Amino acid sequence: MNIRNKLVAVLTATTVLGFVLGFPPKYGPCKVKCRTLGLRKCFRICRIATGDSIAFPCWKNCSVSINGPNAANDLSGCIQQCRVGKTCDLASNKTRLLKILKEKEPLEGPLFAKDGNLYIVLYTAGEIRRVDLENKQTIPFVNLSVDGFNGMPLGLQNGPGNNIWVTDMRLGLLKVKQNGSFEQVATKDNQNEPLQGLNDLTFDYHGNLWITAPYGPIAPQNFTDSEKDPFGSVYCYNMTTNEFIKLATGFLYPNGIAVRHNSDGTPAKLIFGSFYNKTAPLWSFDIVGPCQIDNKQVWGNLPANSYIDGMDFDEKGNLLVTDYHSSILYVFDNNGGTPTCQLKLPFKHLTNVQFRPDSKELYITGDELWKVDWKYKGMKQYWEIA
Ligand SMILES: *[C@@H]1O[C@H](CO)[C@@H](O)[C@H](O)[C@H]1NC(C)=O
Ligand SMILES: *[C@@H]1O[C@H](CO)[C@@H](O)[C@H](O)[C@H]1NC(C)=O
Ligand SMILES: *[C@@H]1O[C@H](CO)[C@@H](O)[C@H](O)[C@H]1NC(C)=O
Ligand SMILES: *[C@@H]1O[C@H](CO)[C@@H](O)[C@H](O)[C@H]1NC(C)=O
Ligand SMILES: *[C@@H]1O[C@H](CO)[C@@H](O)[C@H](O)[C@H]1NC(C)=O
Ligand SMILES: *[C@@H]1O[C@H](CO)[C@@H](O)[C@H](O)[C@H]1NC(C)=O
Ligand SMILES: *[C@@H]1O[C@H](CO)[C@@H](O)[C@H](O)[C@H]1NC(C)=O
Repeated sequence: MNIRNKLVAVLTATTVLGFVLGFPPKYGPCKVKCRTLGLRKCFRICRIATGDSIAFPCWKNCSVSINGPNAANDLSGCIQQCRVGKTCDLASNKTRLLKILKEKEPLEGPLFAKDGNLYIVLYTAGEIRRVDLENKQTIPFVNLSVDGFNGMPLGLQNGPGNNIWVTDMRLGLLKVKQNGSFEQVATKDNQNEPLQGLNDLTFDYHGNLWITAPYGPIAPQNFTDSEKDPFGSVYCYNMTTNEFIKLATGFLYPNGIAVRHNSDGTPAKLIFGSFYNKTAPLWSFDIVGPCQIDNKQVWGNLPANSYIDGMDFDEKGNLLVTDYHSSILYVFDNNGGTPTCQLKLPFKHLTNVQFRPDSKELYITGDELWKVDWKYKGMKQYWEIA
Protein backbone atom coordinates (compact mmCIF):
# COMPACT_ATOMS: atom_id res chain seq x y z
CA MET A 1 0.00 0.00 0.00
CA ASN A 2 1.60 3.30 -0.99
CA ILE A 3 0.89 6.59 0.73
CA ARG A 4 -1.83 7.55 -1.70
CA ASN A 5 -3.66 4.25 -1.26
CA LYS A 6 -3.35 4.62 2.51
CA LEU A 7 -4.87 8.06 2.25
CA VAL A 8 -7.69 6.73 0.10
CA ALA A 9 -8.33 3.92 2.59
CA VAL A 10 -8.47 6.35 5.48
CA LEU A 11 -10.80 8.64 3.60
CA THR A 12 -13.05 5.76 2.62
CA ALA A 13 -13.13 4.60 6.23
CA THR A 14 -14.11 8.10 7.32
CA THR A 15 -16.99 8.04 4.85
CA VAL A 16 -18.17 4.64 6.05
CA LEU A 17 -17.92 5.71 9.69
CA GLY A 18 -19.95 8.85 8.96
CA PHE A 19 -22.57 6.64 7.38
CA VAL A 20 -22.65 4.25 10.34
CA LEU A 21 -23.06 7.15 12.75
CA GLY A 22 -25.91 8.47 10.65
CA PHE A 23 -24.34 11.69 9.34
CA PRO A 24 -24.87 12.34 5.65
CA PRO A 25 -21.43 11.38 4.27
CA LYS A 26 -19.09 14.11 3.10
CA TYR A 27 -15.88 13.89 1.15
CA GLY A 28 -12.93 14.68 3.44
CA PRO A 29 -10.48 16.22 0.95
CA CYS A 30 -13.32 18.43 -0.25
CA LYS A 31 -14.04 19.65 3.28
CA VAL A 32 -10.38 20.46 3.79
CA LYS A 33 -10.22 22.40 0.53
CA CYS A 34 -13.54 24.06 1.21
CA ARG A 35 -12.42 25.32 4.62
CA THR A 36 -9.06 26.42 3.28
CA LEU A 37 -10.93 28.58 0.79
CA GLY A 38 -12.91 30.06 3.69
CA LEU A 39 -16.23 28.92 2.25
CA ARG A 40 -19.31 28.27 4.34
CA LYS A 41 -21.72 25.32 4.28
CA CYS A 42 -18.89 22.94 3.41
CA PHE A 43 -20.97 20.04 4.75
CA ARG A 44 -23.43 20.73 1.94
CA ILE A 45 -20.90 21.49 -0.79
CA CYS A 46 -18.96 18.30 -0.04
CA ARG A 47 -21.89 15.95 0.52
CA ILE A 48 -21.81 12.62 -1.32
CA ALA A 49 -24.47 9.96 -1.74
CA THR A 50 -24.51 7.04 0.69
CA GLY A 51 -22.36 4.19 -0.60
CA ASP A 52 -20.50 6.40 -3.08
CA SER A 53 -16.82 7.07 -3.07
CA ILE A 54 -14.77 9.65 -4.91
CA ALA A 55 -11.83 8.74 -7.13
CA PHE A 56 -8.94 10.56 -5.45
CA PRO A 57 -6.63 11.09 -8.49
CA CYS A 58 -9.57 12.58 -10.37
CA TRP A 59 -10.51 14.75 -7.40
CA LYS A 60 -6.98 16.01 -6.94
CA ASN A 61 -6.64 17.10 -10.53
CA CYS A 62 -10.12 18.54 -10.72
CA SER A 63 -9.92 20.61 -7.56
CA VAL A 64 -6.29 21.75 -7.59
CA SER A 65 -6.81 25.16 -9.22
CA ILE A 66 -10.24 25.98 -7.78
CA ASN A 67 -10.47 29.51 -6.41
CA GLY A 68 -12.56 32.65 -6.74
CA PRO A 69 -16.28 33.35 -6.76
CA ASN A 70 -17.36 30.02 -8.32
CA ALA A 71 -15.36 27.90 -5.91
CA ALA A 72 -18.37 26.37 -4.15
CA ASN A 73 -19.98 25.33 -7.43
CA ASP A 74 -16.68 24.07 -8.81
CA LEU A 75 -16.05 21.90 -5.74
CA SER A 76 -19.51 20.34 -6.04
CA GLY A 77 -18.82 19.89 -9.74
CA CYS A 78 -15.64 17.95 -8.97
CA ILE A 79 -17.58 15.73 -6.55
CA GLN A 80 -20.03 14.91 -9.33
CA GLN A 81 -17.30 14.46 -11.90
CA CYS A 82 -15.18 12.13 -9.76
CA ARG A 83 -17.97 10.15 -8.11
CA VAL A 84 -17.77 6.37 -8.31
CA GLY A 85 -20.51 4.06 -7.17
CA LYS A 86 -20.52 1.28 -4.65
CA THR A 87 -18.96 -2.14 -5.21
CA CYS A 88 -21.17 -4.37 -7.36
CA ASP A 89 -22.86 -7.43 -5.90
CA LEU A 90 -21.71 -10.64 -7.54
CA ALA A 91 -23.42 -14.02 -7.92
CA SER A 92 -21.44 -15.39 -5.01
CA ASN A 93 -19.28 -13.83 -2.33
CA LYS A 94 -17.03 -16.90 -2.20
CA THR A 95 -15.54 -17.36 -5.63
CA ARG A 96 -15.57 -13.72 -6.55
CA LEU A 97 -12.66 -13.42 -8.91
CA LEU A 98 -10.61 -16.15 -10.50
CA LYS A 99 -7.34 -15.69 -12.35
CA ILE A 100 -7.05 -17.88 -15.42
CA LEU A 101 -3.76 -17.00 -17.03
CA LYS A 102 -1.19 -14.42 -17.97
CA GLU A 103 0.87 -14.15 -21.15
CA LYS A 104 3.99 -12.14 -21.97
CA GLU A 105 1.85 -9.80 -24.07
CA PRO A 106 -1.34 -7.93 -23.18
CA LEU A 107 -4.65 -9.61 -23.98
CA GLU A 108 -7.78 -8.31 -25.69
CA GLY A 109 -10.91 -9.33 -27.56
CA PRO A 110 -12.22 -12.33 -25.57
CA LEU A 111 -14.78 -14.38 -27.53
CA PHE A 112 -16.56 -17.70 -27.07
CA ALA A 113 -16.72 -18.90 -30.66
CA LYS A 114 -19.34 -21.29 -32.00
CA ASP A 115 -17.02 -24.24 -31.36
CA GLY A 116 -17.45 -23.52 -27.62
CA ASN A 117 -13.86 -22.39 -27.12
CA LEU A 118 -12.71 -19.10 -25.71
CA TYR A 119 -10.43 -17.12 -28.03
CA ILE A 120 -8.34 -14.05 -27.19
CA VAL A 121 -5.97 -11.81 -29.13
CA LEU A 122 -2.39 -10.89 -28.37
CA TYR A 123 -2.56 -7.68 -30.34
CA THR A 124 1.06 -6.61 -30.14
CA ALA A 125 2.03 -10.00 -31.59
CA GLY A 126 -0.77 -10.03 -34.17
CA GLU A 127 -2.00 -13.37 -32.84
CA ILE A 128 -5.35 -14.96 -32.10
CA ARG A 129 -5.08 -17.79 -29.57
CA ARG A 130 -7.46 -20.41 -28.24
CA VAL A 131 -7.72 -20.67 -24.47
CA ASP A 132 -7.48 -24.10 -22.86
CA LEU A 133 -9.52 -23.21 -19.76
CA GLU A 134 -8.90 -26.56 -18.07
CA ASN A 135 -5.11 -26.32 -18.22
CA LYS A 136 -5.02 -22.54 -18.01
CA GLN A 137 -2.91 -22.01 -21.09
CA THR A 138 -3.26 -20.66 -24.61
CA ILE A 139 -2.80 -22.52 -27.89
CA PRO A 140 -1.70 -20.70 -31.09
CA PHE A 141 -4.60 -20.40 -33.53
CA VAL A 142 -3.70 -17.87 -36.21
CA ASN A 143 -1.12 -15.16 -36.89
CA LEU A 144 -2.60 -12.41 -39.02
CA SER A 145 -0.71 -10.80 -41.85
CA VAL A 146 -1.55 -9.58 -45.36
CA ASP A 147 0.98 -8.72 -48.07
CA GLY A 148 3.77 -8.66 -45.50
CA PHE A 149 1.92 -6.36 -43.10
CA ASN A 150 1.37 -7.90 -39.69
CA GLY A 151 -2.05 -7.57 -38.13
CA MET A 152 -2.89 -6.08 -34.76
CA PRO A 153 -6.25 -7.61 -33.93
CA LEU A 154 -8.30 -5.96 -31.17
CA GLY A 155 -11.84 -7.32 -31.36
CA LEU A 156 -13.48 -10.69 -32.09
CA GLN A 157 -17.15 -11.55 -32.66
CA ASN A 158 -19.26 -14.38 -34.06
CA GLY A 159 -21.18 -13.63 -37.22
CA PRO A 160 -23.19 -15.81 -39.57
CA GLY A 161 -21.49 -19.08 -40.52
CA ASN A 162 -18.59 -20.39 -38.51
CA ASN A 163 -16.38 -17.40 -39.08
CA ILE A 164 -14.82 -15.35 -36.34
CA TRP A 165 -15.02 -11.70 -37.38
CA VAL A 166 -11.95 -9.69 -36.46
CA THR A 167 -11.40 -5.95 -36.19
CA ASP A 168 -7.75 -5.11 -36.70
CA MET A 169 -5.94 -1.79 -36.33
CA ARG A 170 -3.69 -2.44 -39.34
CA LEU A 171 -5.71 -4.78 -41.56
CA GLY A 172 -9.32 -3.60 -41.15
CA LEU A 173 -12.07 -6.23 -41.08
CA LEU A 174 -11.16 -9.91 -41.38
CA LYS A 175 -13.02 -13.24 -41.30
CA VAL A 176 -11.28 -16.28 -39.83
CA LYS A 177 -12.49 -19.82 -40.52
CA GLN A 178 -12.33 -22.59 -37.94
CA ASN A 179 -9.31 -24.12 -39.69
CA GLY A 180 -7.43 -20.84 -39.26
CA SER A 181 -7.58 -19.62 -42.85
CA PHE A 182 -8.62 -15.98 -43.10
CA GLU A 183 -9.55 -13.26 -45.56
CA GLN A 184 -9.77 -9.47 -45.50
CA VAL A 185 -13.45 -8.56 -45.86
CA ALA A 186 -12.94 -4.93 -46.80
CA THR A 187 -10.15 -2.42 -47.21
CA LYS A 188 -12.27 0.50 -48.47
CA ASP A 189 -15.59 2.04 -47.51
CA ASN A 190 -18.52 2.70 -49.88
CA GLN A 191 -17.01 6.10 -50.79
CA ASN A 192 -13.91 4.23 -51.98
CA GLU A 193 -11.88 5.73 -49.11
CA PRO A 194 -9.36 3.45 -47.38
CA LEU A 195 -10.73 2.05 -44.11
CA GLN A 196 -9.47 3.50 -40.87
CA GLY A 197 -7.84 1.08 -38.46
CA LEU A 198 -10.51 -0.68 -36.40
CA ASN A 199 -10.90 -1.42 -32.72
CA ASP A 200 -14.13 -3.07 -31.52
CA LEU A 201 -17.19 -4.58 -33.17
CA THR A 202 -20.67 -5.83 -32.37
CA PHE A 203 -23.50 -7.39 -34.38
CA ASP A 204 -27.03 -6.16 -33.70
CA TYR A 205 -29.97 -8.62 -33.73
CA HIS A 206 -30.71 -7.75 -37.37
CA GLY A 207 -27.18 -8.69 -38.44
CA ASN A 208 -25.73 -5.23 -38.97
CA LEU A 209 -22.13 -4.98 -37.82
CA TRP A 210 -21.14 -1.82 -35.89
CA ILE A 211 -17.46 -0.89 -35.54
CA THR A 212 -15.30 1.74 -33.83
CA ALA A 213 -12.32 3.04 -35.81
CA PRO A 214 -9.89 5.21 -33.82
CA TYR A 215 -6.88 5.05 -36.16
CA GLY A 216 -5.68 6.54 -39.42
CA PRO A 217 -5.85 4.52 -42.68
CA ILE A 218 -4.96 0.80 -42.61
CA ALA A 219 -1.88 -0.80 -44.20
CA PRO A 220 -0.08 -0.18 -46.52
CA GLN A 221 -0.41 3.34 -45.06
CA ASN A 222 1.82 3.96 -42.06
CA PHE A 223 0.10 3.59 -38.73
CA THR A 224 -1.32 6.74 -37.11
CA ASP A 225 -3.32 7.45 -34.01
CA SER A 226 -3.76 10.48 -31.79
CA GLU A 227 -4.44 11.42 -28.20
CA LYS A 228 -5.54 14.89 -29.31
CA ASP A 229 -7.00 14.95 -32.83
CA PRO A 230 -10.53 13.60 -32.88
CA PHE A 231 -10.40 11.85 -36.26
CA GLY A 232 -11.90 8.57 -35.05
CA SER A 233 -15.02 7.21 -36.74
CA VAL A 234 -17.86 4.75 -36.42
CA TYR A 235 -18.63 2.35 -39.26
CA CYS A 236 -21.42 -0.03 -40.05
CA TYR A 237 -20.99 -3.05 -42.33
CA ASN A 238 -24.04 -4.49 -44.09
CA MET A 239 -23.05 -7.96 -45.19
CA THR A 240 -26.09 -8.40 -47.47
CA THR A 241 -25.25 -5.39 -49.61
CA ASN A 242 -21.53 -5.65 -48.80
CA GLU A 243 -21.49 -1.96 -47.93
CA PHE A 244 -18.97 -0.55 -45.47
CA ILE A 245 -20.37 2.80 -44.36
CA LYS A 246 -18.70 5.57 -42.34
CA LEU A 247 -21.61 6.79 -40.22
CA ALA A 248 -19.98 9.46 -38.09
CA THR A 249 -16.54 10.87 -37.46
CA GLY A 250 -14.86 13.43 -35.19
CA PHE A 251 -14.38 11.21 -32.14
CA LEU A 252 -11.27 11.10 -30.01
CA TYR A 253 -10.19 7.45 -30.18
CA PRO A 254 -13.62 5.76 -30.17
CA ASN A 255 -13.35 2.46 -28.32
CA GLY A 256 -15.64 -0.39 -27.25
CA ILE A 257 -19.09 -0.69 -28.83
CA ALA A 258 -22.46 -2.12 -27.81
CA VAL A 259 -26.04 -2.11 -29.09
CA ARG A 260 -29.08 -1.97 -26.86
CA HIS A 261 -32.27 -3.54 -28.22
CA ASN A 262 -35.95 -2.91 -27.53
CA SER A 263 -37.88 -5.73 -25.87
CA ASP A 264 -39.01 -6.93 -29.33
CA GLY A 265 -35.36 -7.24 -30.39
CA THR A 266 -35.22 -4.13 -32.57
CA PRO A 267 -31.78 -2.45 -32.40
CA ALA A 268 -32.40 0.82 -30.53
CA LYS A 269 -29.22 2.47 -29.31
CA LEU A 270 -25.58 2.43 -30.32
CA ILE A 271 -23.11 3.15 -27.50
CA PHE A 272 -19.33 3.51 -27.54
CA GLY A 273 -16.59 5.23 -25.53
CA SER A 274 -13.86 7.76 -26.22
CA PHE A 275 -10.59 6.43 -24.83
CA TYR A 276 -8.50 9.63 -24.67
CA ASN A 277 -11.26 12.07 -23.80
CA LYS A 278 -10.58 13.29 -20.22
CA THR A 279 -14.31 13.55 -19.47
CA ALA A 280 -14.63 9.85 -20.42
CA PRO A 281 -17.94 10.05 -22.30
CA LEU A 282 -20.04 7.16 -23.51
CA TRP A 283 -21.51 8.45 -26.77
CA SER A 284 -24.86 7.22 -27.98
CA PHE A 285 -26.88 7.38 -31.18
CA ASP A 286 -30.42 6.20 -31.78
CA ILE A 287 -30.50 3.40 -34.34
CA VAL A 288 -33.23 4.40 -36.79
CA GLY A 289 -32.75 1.77 -39.50
CA PRO A 290 -30.23 -0.77 -40.85
CA CYS A 291 -26.86 1.00 -40.52
CA GLN A 292 -28.65 4.29 -39.87
CA ILE A 293 -28.15 6.46 -36.80
CA ASP A 294 -29.39 9.78 -35.50
CA ASN A 295 -29.40 11.97 -32.37
CA LYS A 296 -25.82 12.03 -31.07
CA GLN A 297 -25.74 12.37 -27.29
CA VAL A 298 -23.54 11.82 -24.27
CA TRP A 299 -25.26 8.79 -22.72
CA GLY A 300 -23.05 8.61 -19.65
CA ASN A 301 -19.59 9.32 -18.28
CA LEU A 302 -17.02 7.34 -16.39
CA PRO A 303 -15.17 9.31 -13.71
CA ALA A 304 -13.00 11.96 -15.35
CA ASN A 305 -9.60 10.73 -16.57
CA SER A 306 -10.83 7.17 -17.14
CA TYR A 307 -9.88 5.39 -20.37
CA ILE A 308 -12.91 3.56 -21.74
CA ASP A 309 -11.84 0.38 -23.50
CA GLY A 310 -14.41 -2.44 -23.76
CA MET A 311 -18.09 -2.99 -22.96
CA ASP A 312 -20.98 -5.47 -23.01
CA PHE A 313 -24.57 -5.61 -21.78
CA ASP A 314 -25.92 -8.15 -19.33
CA GLU A 315 -29.44 -9.58 -19.75
CA LYS A 316 -30.90 -6.92 -17.42
CA GLY A 317 -29.64 -4.11 -19.62
CA ASN A 318 -26.71 -3.13 -17.41
CA LEU A 319 -23.71 -1.96 -19.40
CA LEU A 320 -20.34 -3.22 -18.09
CA VAL A 321 -17.49 -0.91 -19.11
CA THR A 322 -13.75 -1.36 -18.53
CA ASP A 323 -11.37 1.45 -17.64
CA TYR A 324 -7.91 0.66 -19.01
CA HIS A 325 -6.01 2.60 -16.33
CA SER A 326 -7.74 2.12 -12.98
CA SER A 327 -8.35 -1.68 -12.77
CA ILE A 328 -12.04 -0.84 -12.45
CA LEU A 329 -15.05 -2.25 -14.25
CA TYR A 330 -17.89 0.30 -14.13
CA VAL A 331 -21.54 -0.64 -14.43
CA PHE A 332 -24.34 1.55 -15.79
CA ASP A 333 -28.04 0.85 -15.63
CA ASN A 334 -30.44 1.44 -18.53
CA ASN A 335 -30.45 5.18 -18.00
CA GLY A 336 -26.72 5.79 -18.41
CA GLY A 337 -25.53 8.88 -16.54
CA THR A 338 -23.07 7.87 -13.83
CA PRO A 339 -22.09 4.31 -12.89
CA THR A 340 -24.35 2.53 -10.41
CA CYS A 341 -21.58 0.29 -9.10
CA GLN A 342 -18.01 -0.73 -9.78
CA LEU A 343 -15.72 -3.70 -9.42
CA LYS A 344 -12.02 -3.40 -8.75
CA LEU A 345 -9.97 -6.15 -10.40
CA PRO A 346 -6.63 -7.31 -9.01
CA PHE A 347 -4.62 -6.42 -12.14
CA LYS A 348 -3.77 -3.05 -13.60
CA HIS A 349 -5.01 -2.76 -17.17
CA LEU A 350 -8.46 -3.94 -18.22
CA THR A 351 -9.26 -4.15 -21.90
CA ASN A 352 -12.46 -6.04 -22.73
CA VAL A 353 -15.21 -8.29 -21.40
CA GLN A 354 -17.23 -11.21 -22.71
CA PHE A 355 -19.85 -13.52 -21.14
CA ARG A 356 -19.78 -17.24 -21.74
CA PRO A 357 -23.00 -17.80 -23.76
CA ASP A 358 -26.12 -18.40 -21.63
CA SER A 359 -24.16 -17.97 -18.41
CA LYS A 360 -23.13 -15.54 -15.69
CA GLU A 361 -19.45 -16.22 -16.26
CA LEU A 362 -17.80 -12.97 -17.26
CA TYR A 363 -14.29 -13.09 -18.78
CA ILE A 364 -12.11 -10.00 -18.53
CA THR A 365 -8.89 -9.42 -20.50
CA GLY A 366 -6.00 -7.00 -20.02
CA ASP A 367 -2.63 -7.73 -18.45
CA GLU A 368 -4.17 -11.08 -17.50
CA LEU A 369 -7.30 -13.16 -18.13
CA TRP A 370 -9.77 -13.37 -15.24
CA LYS A 371 -13.22 -14.81 -14.64
CA VAL A 372 -15.94 -13.23 -12.52
CA ASP A 373 -19.30 -14.74 -11.59
CA TRP A 374 -21.57 -11.84 -12.47
CA LYS A 375 -24.99 -11.52 -10.86
CA TYR A 376 -26.84 -11.88 -14.19
CA LYS A 377 -26.31 -13.67 -17.48
CA GLY A 378 -24.89 -11.81 -20.44
CA MET A 379 -27.14 -10.30 -23.08
CA LYS A 380 -27.68 -12.83 -25.85
CA GLN A 381 -25.49 -12.26 -28.88
CA TYR A 382 -26.80 -12.05 -32.44
CA TRP A 383 -25.65 -15.56 -33.37
CA GLU A 384 -27.47 -17.04 -30.35
CA ILE A 385 -30.86 -15.71 -31.46
CA ALA A 386 -30.46 -15.71 -35.27
C1 LIG B 1 -6.58 17.73 -15.14
O1 LIG B 1 -7.77 18.51 -15.35
C2 LIG B 1 -7.69 19.44 -16.42
C3 LIG B 1 -8.97 20.24 -16.45
O2 LIG B 1 -9.16 20.90 -15.25
C4 LIG B 1 -7.45 18.70 -17.71
O3 LIG B 1 -7.32 19.60 -18.78
C5 LIG B 1 -6.20 17.86 -17.58
O4 LIG B 1 -6.03 17.10 -18.75
C6 LIG B 1 -6.26 16.94 -16.38
N1 LIG B 1 -4.98 16.26 -16.24
C7 LIG B 1 -4.89 14.96 -15.99
C8 LIG B 1 -3.50 14.40 -15.84
O5 LIG B 1 -5.86 14.26 -15.87
C1 LIG C 1 -22.62 -10.81 -0.64
O1 LIG C 1 -22.33 -9.96 0.47
C2 LIG C 1 -23.11 -8.77 0.53
C3 LIG C 1 -22.60 -7.89 1.65
O2 LIG C 1 -22.22 -8.66 2.77
C4 LIG C 1 -24.58 -9.13 0.69
O3 LIG C 1 -25.41 -7.98 0.72
C5 LIG C 1 -25.01 -9.99 -0.51
O4 LIG C 1 -26.34 -10.41 -0.38
C6 LIG C 1 -24.10 -11.22 -0.64
N1 LIG C 1 -24.42 -11.89 -1.88
C7 LIG C 1 -24.61 -13.21 -1.94
C8 LIG C 1 -24.98 -13.76 -3.26
O5 LIG C 1 -24.48 -13.94 -0.96
C1 LIG D 1 2.46 -17.29 -34.38
O1 LIG D 1 3.72 -16.75 -34.08
C2 LIG D 1 4.22 -17.15 -32.80
C3 LIG D 1 5.50 -16.37 -32.53
O2 LIG D 1 6.23 -16.18 -33.70
C4 LIG D 1 4.41 -18.65 -32.77
O3 LIG D 1 4.86 -19.04 -31.50
C5 LIG D 1 3.06 -19.31 -33.04
O4 LIG D 1 3.21 -20.71 -33.11
C6 LIG D 1 2.48 -18.81 -34.35
N1 LIG D 1 1.10 -19.30 -34.48
C7 LIG D 1 0.66 -19.98 -35.53
C8 LIG D 1 -0.76 -20.42 -35.51
O5 LIG D 1 1.39 -20.23 -36.47
C1 LIG E 1 -9.94 -24.08 -44.64
O1 LIG E 1 -11.25 -24.41 -45.08
C2 LIG E 1 -11.62 -23.77 -46.28
C3 LIG E 1 -13.04 -24.19 -46.59
O2 LIG E 1 -13.87 -23.98 -45.47
C4 LIG E 1 -10.70 -24.20 -47.41
O3 LIG E 1 -11.03 -23.48 -48.59
C5 LIG E 1 -9.27 -23.89 -47.04
O4 LIG E 1 -8.37 -24.39 -48.02
C6 LIG E 1 -8.91 -24.50 -45.70
N1 LIG E 1 -7.58 -24.02 -45.32
C7 LIG E 1 -6.69 -24.78 -44.69
C8 LIG E 1 -5.40 -24.10 -44.32
O5 LIG E 1 -6.91 -25.92 -44.41
C1 LIG F 1 -28.66 -4.17 -45.37
O1 LIG F 1 -29.30 -3.26 -46.22
C2 LIG F 1 -30.55 -3.69 -46.71
C3 LIG F 1 -31.03 -2.64 -47.73
O2 LIG F 1 -31.03 -1.37 -47.15
C4 LIG F 1 -31.51 -3.85 -45.53
O3 LIG F 1 -32.76 -4.35 -46.00
C5 LIG F 1 -30.92 -4.85 -44.53
O4 LIG F 1 -31.73 -4.92 -43.39
C6 LIG F 1 -29.53 -4.37 -44.12
N1 LIG F 1 -28.90 -5.22 -43.10
C7 LIG F 1 -28.56 -6.50 -43.29
C8 LIG F 1 -27.88 -7.17 -42.16
O5 LIG F 1 -28.79 -7.11 -44.30
C1 LIG G 1 6.02 5.27 -43.94
O1 LIG G 1 7.06 5.88 -43.19
C2 LIG G 1 8.34 5.70 -43.72
C3 LIG G 1 9.37 6.25 -42.73
O2 LIG G 1 8.93 7.46 -42.20
C4 LIG G 1 8.43 6.36 -45.10
O3 LIG G 1 9.69 6.17 -45.65
C5 LIG G 1 7.36 5.73 -46.00
O4 LIG G 1 7.32 6.40 -47.23
C6 LIG G 1 5.97 5.83 -45.35
N1 LIG G 1 5.04 5.03 -46.13
C7 LIG G 1 3.87 5.50 -46.54
C8 LIG G 1 3.00 4.53 -47.29
O5 LIG G 1 3.50 6.61 -46.31
C1 LIG H 1 -15.06 14.92 -24.86
O1 LIG H 1 -16.31 14.57 -24.34
C2 LIG H 1 -17.18 15.68 -24.05
C3 LIG H 1 -18.45 15.09 -23.45
O2 LIG H 1 -18.20 14.44 -22.22
C4 LIG H 1 -17.43 16.47 -25.31
O3 LIG H 1 -18.23 17.59 -25.02
C5 LIG H 1 -16.12 16.90 -25.93
O4 LIG H 1 -16.37 17.52 -27.17
C6 LIG H 1 -15.22 15.70 -26.16
N1 LIG H 1 -13.92 16.15 -26.64
C7 LIG H 1 -13.37 15.70 -27.76
C8 LIG H 1 -12.04 16.26 -28.12
O5 LIG H 1 -13.91 14.86 -28.46
